[in-house]
Amino acid sequence: MADKNQARDKFGSRFGVIAAAAGSAVGLGNIWKFPYIAGIYGGAAFLFVYLAFILAIGLPVMLSELIIGRKSQRNAFGAFKVLAPGTPWKYIGILGVSAAFLILSFYGVVAGWSVQYIILSIQDGFSNRSPEQIASLFTTFTTSPIRPVILQLVFMIATGAIVIIGVKKGIEKYTKILMPLLVVILVGLAIKSVSLEGAKAGLDFLFKPDFSKLTGEGVLSALGHAFFTLSLGMGTLITYGSYIQKNNNLVRTVIEVTLADTVIAILAGIAIFPAVFAFGIEPTEGPGLIFVTLPNVFHQMPGGFLFSILFFVLLTVAALTSSISILEVVVAYFKEEFNISRKGATVLATILISMLGVLCSLSMGVLEPVKIFGLNFFDLMDWISANLLLPIGGLFIALFIGWFFGRKKVEEEVANGGKLSGALLSVFMFLVKFIAPIAIAIVLMNKVGLLNFG
Ligand code: PHE
Repeated sequence: MADKNQARDKFGSRFGVIAAAAGSAVGLGNIWKFPYIAGIYGGAAFLFVYLAFILAIGLPVMLSELIIGRKSQRNAFGAFKVLAPGTPWKYIGILGVSAAFLILSFYGVVAGWSVQYIILSIQDGFSNRSPEQIASLFTTFTTSPIRPVILQLVFMIATGAIVIIGVKKGIEKYTKILMPLLVVILVGLAIKSVSLEGAKAGLDFLFKPDFSKLTGEGVLSALGHAFFTLSLGMGTLITYGSYIQKNNNLVRTVIEVTLADTVIAILAGIAIFPAVFAFGIEPTEGPGLIFVTLPNVFHQMPGGFLFSILFFVLLTVAALTSSISILEVVVAYFKEEFNISRKGATVLATILISMLGVLCSLSMGVLEPVKIFGLNFFDLMDWISANLLLPIGGLFIALFIGWFFGRKKVEEEVANGGKLSGALLSVFMFLVKFIAPIAIAIVLMNKVGLLNFG
């Protein structure tokens, strides 16, 4: 309750809101993670299930989070204490803060890889190398014990520094500058990739579904990724919602952010899969997929040298605008619930998360033999957070808005003093009361074996 009577930071403009929320949503999830898990779980079939989850669950949960944040003016935990005092709903916030810890620990590692690829691009490290040499470049680097750890720490320090500067000067300013450029670069890459010989197999893989390839694990990953890519289920958008001004049209914000996020993921898919097939790379390659694929495309492009520098710089920036939104969940919680200064909260959170991150990084190499549930530490952090904590968080957020908060208050908060279409409101309430929670519950139960759809 530290700042009850003190003005909270606010996003300055409508564009600032979109840029910050889209900056959070668009990140490694779209460009690094989406292609690699789509590759593992069968391409188009995965894509279509993921899109269905975005529409039926992602959109309503995003609106729910923004409503909770803006109404309560609090962090992910405090929000529930304000809106539902004396009830256990606040534990959703604890779940969210925990998810933020786990996600940022591996996110920082991958962002560190992206920094390494800026350096390699500047050194012209990809030219005159065969696809095999490019692949071994990645493995040698990620399995080594020192360099990836250092780069992860550098990235985490940058994240912490921006979060200390605060919402308006830090988050908003850095997110609205470079995003459009990223889209331009992706379009350029996609055009080149599609024109490669053998590209068609990649487009078929991404757009012609073979639903017989879909497994229970694949459906769970599509659900988890729908949450991950939209930054949902852990209170990021509760926290950001609390910085949004009262006159912002939340429905419009939700639609624009979701659209931007989805378009960028699909663009990344079009940039990557044709090249994957053209260069004889396995789509099931895993977390290294973009790092072993795209350098091959760059060095066949006119201006590829500059293009690759620009691409990895923008990927790192996209990662940064997401990582600050993850760290902000933890910082807002520490700051408001324990009365710590923004600076102290940020330093503490950054140190703790970076320590977990070191383990994630080492688990690609020296700690690879250490397995928990058959996964190394890096994959475990990813799996628990994206496939478990985020969907469970989303389930309860939907239930909270649908059954506890209720239609009347939703209307008040969303209409901004104006009118809201009754039909729209009814569809939204139906989704948060029934569709989203039931769908999430079915996917999770199928996974633990309580239900069995194969
Ligand atoms: N949505 C971000 C991405 O796609 C990751 C993220 C997850 C950010 C959860 C905030 C919360 O890269």
